[in-house]
Amino acid sequence: MIHAPLPRGWTILALETSCDETAAAVIRDGREIVSNSVASQIALHQQYGGVVPEVASRQHILTIAPIIADALGALPNGWRDINAIATTYGPGLAGALLSGINTAKAMAWMRGLPLVGVNHLEGHIYASWLHSEPQQPLPEPPQFPLVALIVSGGHTALVLVRDHGAYHLIGQTRDDAVGEAFDKVARIMGLGYPGGPIIEKIARGVHPGAVKLPRAWLRGTYDWSFSGLKTAVLNMVQERMGTRAETQKLAAIDAHGTAQIAAAFQESAVDVLVQKTVAAAREFGAREIILAGGVAANTALRESLAAHANPIPVRFPPIWLCTDNAAMIGAAAYYRYDAGLQTDWTLDAAPGLKLV
Ligand code: KG4
Ligand code: ZN
Repeated sequence: MIHAPLPRGWTILALETSCDETAAAVIRDGREIVSNSVASQIALHQQYGGVVPEVASRQHILTIAPIIADALGALPNGWRDINAIATTYGPGLAGALLSGINTAKAMAWMRGLPLVGVNHLEGHIYASWLHSEPQQPLPEPPQFPLVALIVSGGHTALVLVRDHGAYHLIGQTRDDAVGEAFDKVARIMGLGYPGGPIIEKIARGVHPGAVKLPRAWLRGTYDWSFSGLKTAVLNMVQERMGTRAETQKLAAIDAHGTAQIAAAFQESAVDVLVQKTVAAAREFGAREIILAGGVAANTALRESLAAHANPIPVRFPPIWLCTDNAAMIGAAAYYRYDAGLQTDWTLDAAPGLKLV
């Protein structure tokens, strides 16, 4: 479709409510973060050891209006500066998604603004387009073709991106997402939720010693499997706990052993992610690798990927743009709208939405 380029200063209000963060952001020209407001529900879900969908939906409804007001507060003319409204419409929890979608629709209708529905995974990829350090000059945007490794609590996918919106799925997990494996392993050892940051913290500087955990290579594919690794941790923990009561946790009994298992688990997960991503980037002639999603906050993964991919550059957003946020949804929405893609009023939650 041929259409005029978007005028300079084109500004989007974006919402993100697919899981346990209620977020709103204002994005200008696709890359400038005017504001980025996130209300995390982690503390609310911690008592249950994971996200409770019904609790998440209700909390989004309570928090979305003040978060939007906060995001718009950064604009001198408030609503009058907004040109379009974007929202995540999948994948995610149905009720949680609906709270953002319905809010976005109501606002777009009231204000006579275009509505842009965004795939959450596409949002994670576009976090790499955002200008995260405004005091520095605007960096070059990512160069196509690129390979994006999306690693989060719900997804583990390797995507070849040939151009804006042109995705090809190269590989994915066949069972647990890697973030889910981090969360489950942390729970098995009694470390709390979310597991990723806790495992990373206790594994820092710790040598796994004699602890050896498996890697599922699934040779000839770019797919992963993390359930065997998780089960290996479970068996190891059960062995060490012996006949102790089930309510007791390894972390409370053997802090050093727990840290060693955490280190071995992280090493194993990082190893398979890095090896396959680098091999795919070489095979497909990627000009760069983008790391995206909550697990991209993991320093061991960042460092290992950068070291092994060399000379292919690896781009990773700062941690606050890796975990769920609305700024990335605004960036993705800008390029969608620029390509002539707009959503109509039939937009519905798509909990199982795929990227390709
Ligand atoms: O992208 P995200 O915020 O939400 C989803 O879309 O899933 O990712 C959350 C996931 C959780 O599984 C969490 O344990 C993991 O990201 N995570 C990490 C780290 N920080 C968050 N995993 C490993 N290391 C981290 N530092
Ligand atoms: Zn996410």
